[in-house]
Amino acid sequence: MTGPDQFSPYPISKVHRLIEPGPVITISTSDGRHDNLMTNGFNMPVQHGGLIGFVLGPWDYSFDTLRDTRECVIAIPAIELAEQVVDVGNVSGADVDKWERFGLTPLASASVAAPLVAECFANIECRVVDDRLVDDYGLWIVQAQHVWVDDSKRGTGEIHHRGDGTFSENGEAIDLRERMTKWPSLID
Ligand SMILES: Cc1cc2nc3c(=O)[nH]c(=O)nc-3n(C[C@H](O)[C@H](O)[C@H](O)COP(=O)(O)O)c2cc1C
Repeated sequence: MTGPDQFSPYPISKVHRLIEPGPVITISTSDGRHDNLMTNGFNMPVQHGGLIGFVLGPWDYSFDTLRDTRECVIAIPAIELAEQVVDVGNVSGADVDKWERFGLTPLASASVAAPLVAECFANIECRVVDDRLVDDYGLWIVQAQHVWVDDSKRGTGEIHHRGDGTFSENGEAIDLRERMTKWPSLID
């Protein structure tokens, strides 16, 4: 076996840039008086059936509200909203009403106090089901309660963060469903 000489070393501190999956999402919360939202790039599906994990830490104003209410809405913006979404992630809800500032519209959700984002093509109402890794990693596990989609707002697809302030849109899709023989339930 030859060594890794064909590769260049890459800094561990930047490894998230290689694996950050996207899509960039917003997470809205409500403390009963104020609705807020933040931008999130560290997220992933955890289990089939609507279990989702994301990192939201105590550096965010949203953290206390999420901890107290255990509810949120994950909204998925199309890349056409990229500038607003980055701006949402660069100010604190403690200082500004981000809905008003960035022209986003809160809508009542069906099962949680946190609002949907009208401009996003998907909204997932969530409840926290596991917070055991929050103290160590800010990692929340939530269960989707209701999911709403509006394909007319999907535009050219979701936003993917490269982890360094640059973003990409979805590439062309390739259809490999016939090769997914071990997982037939996934391709319906
Ligand atoms: C592209 C982007 C991705 C971000 N990803 C995360 C993330 O995964 N987790 C997190 O806690 N903060 C993330 N942030 C930072 C928060 O969005 C930011 O701290 C925001 O101001 C929090 O809002 P709040 O203080 O009103 O809760 C991200 C910001 C941007 C612009």
